[in-house]
Amino acid sequence: MITESGVRNTLTFVRVCTARGADMIVDMLHTNVGEAVDEASARQRDHRYVWHPWSPVKETVGDAPILVSGEGYRVRDAAGREYLDAMASAMNSSCGYAHPALIAAAERQLSLLPHFDLSVGTHLPVGRVAERISGLLPDGLGRTLFVNSGSEATEAAVRIAHGYWRNLGRPRDRIITFAAGYHGTTLVAQHLSGLPTNVTHTLDPFPVTRVELPVPARELRAPESLAPLVEAFERAVLDGAPPAAVFVEAFLNVGGGVVLPSGFLRALRELCDRTGALLVLDEVFCGFGRTGRVFGFDHEGITPDLVTMSKGLSGGYVPFAALSTTEAVYRSFAADPLIGGLRYGHTTGGHAVACAVALAVLDVLEERKLVPAAAARGEELLAGLLPLAEHPEVADVRGLGLVATVECHRPEFAAGLVARARERGTLLRRQGCSVMAIPPLVIDRAGVAELVRTTGKALEDH
Ligand SMILES: Cc1ncc(COP(=O)(O)O)c(C=O)c1O
Repeated sequence: MITESGVRNTLTFVRVCTARGADMIVDMLHTNVGEAVDEASARQRDHRYVWHPWSPVKETVGDAPILVSGEGYRVRDAAGREYLDAMASAMNSSCGYAHPALIAAAERQLSLLPHFDLSVGTHLPVGRVAERISGLLPDGLGRTLFVNSGSEATEAAVRIAHGYWRNLGRPRDRIITFAAGYHGTTLVAQHLSGLPTNVTHTLDPFPVTRVELPVPARELRAPESLAPLVEAFERAVLDGAPPAAVFVEAFLNVGGGVVLPSGFLRALRELCDRTGALLVLDEVFCGFGRTGRVFGFDHEGITPDLVTMSKGLSGGYVPFAALSTTEAVYRSFAADPLIGGLRYGHTTGGHAVACAVALAVLDVLEERKLVPAAAARGEELLAGLLPLAEHPEVADVRGLGLVATVECHRPEFAAGLVARARERGTLLRRQGCSVMAIPPLVIDRAGVAELVRTTGKALEDH
């Protein structure tokens, strides 16, 4: 399909080529965006000026890929090497790269109105996307707040849970979570997690009870693990002050790609109903098809009280996140003595361009039936990777929808596996001992077969 931006890039390409000669043409063909790339100086510049999050301080220039373009489920680096992106960028590419409809939606909204402050007025895309999201959620979750990142959605959800109980005149502030859960890195969001790298070294802003897994991660999905897991949450909820909320993911992503036992979320729903605690589902990773259903909690047919969303909603094209809840929670904020509403919001929350892109993402998910496709491709991926469980360095192979985890016995081995897969043209993600394959939802059968093949070869190479 010919897009306006495609035509502009081509024109720039032709103009620059004519002016600068053959070497430059080769570089520009590599980047595919009409911009010449000198890989060595790009690396030096990055090393000198950029502070990379979640990365060790480096004394020497590294060899991390410098990515310059992408199409579908593949990305290309500055040297012209192509990779199958089984990290889905930051686990957020749903519709793949260079999708013309998403680019067109952003361009159109940028030229109409980039944004308007939602604490003062409104704009058209925000109402439209809120309506579409409420149509995907179970009945009763029709009120949506927009922010910019998954962490901000967590931050808002915790504040709303605390505020809700304050509004009712019965303050509660304790939150129950998985110790191996991950909900982001604002101070509030990071405080929820018990993962070692998430210790914040600051005073506890509110009480959190972090539930440890009662069995190793690789055994958790077994039906026998349901009872001990539910008991652990029951103890956490019942021992101590009544909790404001139980805050969980439907699949522990950063916690090692852990599949929870069937029936767990239904049991949590029942526990929350019994004790009044709000049930918050963090769908930042699972939401919008990743697990083969629109939301991770859809596997259990439950209705949470609050749902947070981000990654797949804007497919990695623009920062965007959302939190949906019930009218009861929303209406309770009328009791706020100063503004009669929520004292929370960001300049770019509900950014009009992000809303327009999200609307286009939801169209693409629907038109291309990407949610059932994720379930089908996920089954092929897991079936292809399961034989790797026989390898002596592999502790477990598991998956849910279009996310598969190869858990290794040693983190060094997992790191080597990721490096060898990269040499073979596949980008895998590592969380500790777990190597995770999380391709964009648009991956096709051939892509899944290639992903299985390269992961297997990278394992054999050892
Ligand atoms: C389940 C979950 N919640 C929250 C977050 C935080 O989102 P963000 O990185 O956009 O702040 C992440 C990020 O990986 C996540 O996986």
